Amino acid sequence: MSLLEKITKRTATVGIVGLGYVGLPLAVLQARTGYRVVGIDEAAEKVERVNRGDNYISDVDATELQQVVRAGRLSATQEFGALRECDVVLICVPTPLTRNKEPDISAIVKVTRELTKHLHPDLLVVLESTTYPGTTEGVLLPMLAQSGLKIGQELYLAFSPERVDPGNRSFKTHNTFKLVGGVTPACLEIARTFYEQSVVKIFPVSSPRVAEMTKVFENVFRSVNIALVNELAVLCDRMGLNVYEVIDAAATKNFGFMPFYPGPGVGGHCIPLDPYYLAWKAKEYDLHTRFIELAGEINEGMPYYVVAKLQRLLNRRGRCLNGASILVLGVTYKAEVADPRETPALKVMELLQQEGTTLAYVDPYTPAVEVAGRSYAAVPLTAQRVAQSDCALILTAHSAFDYELIVRHAPLVFDTRNGTRHVVHRKENVVLL
Ligand SMILES: NC(=O)c1ccc[n+]([C@@H]2O[C@H](COP(=O)([O-])OP(=O)(O)OC[C@H]3O[C@@H](n4cnc5c(N)ncnc54)[C@H](O)[C@@H]3O)[C@@H](O)[C@H]2O)c1
Repeated sequence: MSLLEKITKRTATVGIVGLGYVGLPLAVLQARTGYRVVGIDEAAEKVERVNRGDNYISDVDATELQQVVRAGRLSATQEFGALRECDVVLICVPTPLTRNKEPDISAIVKVTRELTKHLHPDLLVVLESTTYPGTTEGVLLPMLAQSGLKIGQELYLAFSPERVDPGNRSFKTHNTFKLVGGVTPACLEIARTFYEQSVVKIFPVSSPRVAEMTKVFENVFRSVNIALVNELAVLCDRMGLNVYEVIDAAATKNFGFMPFYPGPGVGGHCIPLDPYYLAWKAKEYDLHTRFIELAGEINEGMPYYVVAKLQRLLNRRGRCLNGASILVLGVTYKAEVADPRETPALKVMELLQQEGTTLAYVDPYTPAVEVAGRSYAAVPLTAQRVAQSDCALILTAHSAFDYELIVRHAPLVFDTRNGTRHVVHRKENVVLL
């Protein structure tokens, strides 16, 4: 049976390397589509949990995971040898930055090296990890081509970025346009047919480089617009204006404007990282992407701004940061998501810790955090705890928080996310970003 037939008849075996925020939901989706799915991850704990049907990603439906594991449609292993039996391989490993904010694609390279040991004809390989334009054709292609297998005839290679928005209840992988760029027209055709089985809308582009660039551009777009509104928030603070009122007013224009909201910084595995992939690549073309650098500078400055403003607020009440008791509300990088990666909340806590404040935090999604070598366990949100703090500092506006209780009992609420907007009783003690 040809690869195309195996794909359309859904008898193909799909290997998914990297069972994290991207890989696990994708594995469940592919298994539910009807494929036999093998997940490969270097982390023993994740492999064991998947094989037990024990969910660890909030975007995954725990029952669906159990069903596909019990039905024998999804299993996991640490052994790359499992790739030998796969007809399709999707690579979903992390693409972090080095300490100097340069791309670190070592996980992609490592996985591709492992893959080269298990190549066979009639195999589709798709890179889904976010990366700089040129990775698929400049890094994966030469490594895979060394096998002697003919690209576009025996071995098919494509890039298709994952665009999932963790926590988004309306848009998941299956109903979000899937960009696909193939190394050859045949690669595109096979990859497109594969995704058509599980995703409602496919958007083919002319090359992997276009797909890679598009994905990074999408995240640059967010980073730049968030930076713009963060800068506006700082200006509104100086001018005594409510930035949220300004944004809401601007959003009444039904063309040419899209609201973005300020906050204590940006987090997650995408917005703080991906733009630097492009900035790094651009230098090869004698171009300094100033928008990207500037947005990074403003967004990374926001935790410092939050701490400086908190200092001012306490000063006015005859208190200083040193010795103040601050109750932090929300530490994940965005609301309703159990992901603390790159979260600006931890940076704010680190800065406050340096200033000698006494910290406690509340977050239903994160039982414990470590801040510069110090461990904190989440505490329950109680009226007494709120009342005893010098300030309730809202850094992530989870909907589970009782904002009425916070506003009613805290001597001061510094709300960096406008989480208290629906509180109805008097709010003189609330200060926005
Ligand atoms: N998290 C998101 O919201 C999101 C959205 C779109 C795109 N992406 C991109 O998808 C990619 C994966 O991100 P993620 O959030 O799923 O990361 P993650 O850290 O949640 O998961 C990656 C998994 O890969 C495994 N892994 C790492 N190196 C490995 C190796 N050499 N061999 C086998 N397994 C390995 C890790 O153990 C982990 O389980 C990144 O490029 C990211 O930029 C992420």
